[in-house]
Amino acid sequence: MAKIKFPFTLGVASGEPAPDGVILWTRLAPDPLNGGGMPKSAFDVRWELAEDDTFLKLTASGTTRAQPAGAHSVHVKVSGLRSSSVYFYRFRVEGHTSRVGRTKTAPAPTSTAPLRIAVASCQRYEHGHFTAYKHLAAENPDVILHLGDYIYEYGKPADPALGRYVRPLKDSAAACSTLAAYRERYALYRLDPDLQAAHAAAPWLTIPDDHEVVNNYGKTVDLKRRKAAYQANYEHLPYRVKPGADAMQFSRWRPLGKVVDLLLADVRQYRTPGDMLGPAQTTWLLDRLKGSTARWTVLAQPLFFAPRNPPSTDSWDAYPASRSKILQAAPDSFVVLSGDVHNAWAAELDRGVEFVATAITSAPPAVRDDALERNPHLGFFDGHRGYLVANASMDEFTVDYRTVAYVDRPGAPVSTAASFRAVGNKLERIDL
Ligand SMILES: [Fe+2]
Repeated sequence: MAKIKFPFTLGVASGEPAPDGVILWTRLAPDPLNGGGMPKSAFDVRWELAEDDTFLKLTASGTTRAQPAGAHSVHVKVSGLRSSSVYFYRFRVEGHTSRVGRTKTAPAPTSTAPLRIAVASCQRYEHGHFTAYKHLAAENPDVILHLGDYIYEYGKPADPALGRYVRPLKDSAAACSTLAAYRERYALYRLDPDLQAAHAAAPWLTIPDDHEVVNNYGKTVDLKRRKAAYQANYEHLPYRVKPGADAMQFSRWRPLGKVVDLLLADVRQYRTPGDMLGPAQTTWLLDRLKGSTARWTVLAQPLFFAPRNPPSTDSWDAYPASRSKILQAAPDSFVVLSGDVHNAWAAELDRGVEFVATAITSAPPAVRDDALERNPHLGFFDGHRGYLVANASMDEFTVDYRTVAYVDRPGAPVSTAASFRAVGNKLERIDL
């Protein structure tokens, strides 16, 4: 067998933390922007997990098979681990060793340990540098949520005047519609060192929005295109569940001890006019909300949840019946986390509060000067790029809005634009 070049160019990742295990991810891609560069055969990949990064004493190890049909990606289900514990992991193949990743298991069901959850969304490569991820990786989060637009499917505009981006795509880049094109787009993003650092820092939970497939899609999307898009999404992220024949299960419940019941909802795949989540997902979500006994019930999903004046057409404003069902079923300590709008916001809901994370890089839309005045339930706006960090404990739920000063060149410092505490359905600003 021909020797392969260094194949771990896209880094490592972990995700889907459970009290006894995580998913470990990597992909073999010596030539990531030209189809991956692997021979069309399967490779045995060794994985190792340890309590410290010297790997002198392994907690767990094994071999998994990287198949050409999955773009030589691997998803290793590790179990039998201790809850709320940090582990380090790496991969080996054909004499090559990957970088080391750090991960953490979820708390045990009885745990009252506080949690630190980072939230990111909307990282259009062309719009800037992923500096926010460098800072996010240093936050020491227990888990990182990505709430959609992990890639953007757009091609390079033919009109050069429209193509003056911070990091332009290559000239031949068309809008993604095939598996090969989506794979290459993920590879481009994952070559970014700051994004790789964030994946190597903590386990992720991701839920796609529209641009992982195509702008503003709903149930009427081209199913061949969606299948290719979901397949590439799966191949590049540490999911626990594989894509099915025609669909992929993104909605899921991730309990984090007694402190947080985390629910991830899919706002794209099942929507029909008037129904944001589809009947099956709605039943599932309402049951989970009604049955939630954790100190904080957190709904993480891509789209701005609170009403807005003027209303938005591709968001919950167009699905008021779905929204009120959720608010009626939600317990009092209810928190919505969202993204999509490329600016940071905070909102007081009929029940609970919402924290909207800004974009990592994607350019923001124009926002009316009187947006807060016209929407008294919106308690905060900030127009920078960045992310947010939520701190949840049995006593309180607070959020820090982190912003970077610029994304058009590397090296931006990070600062805290504001901090809030959730008190019932009120936002309490914390003096910095
Ligand atoms: Fe976006």
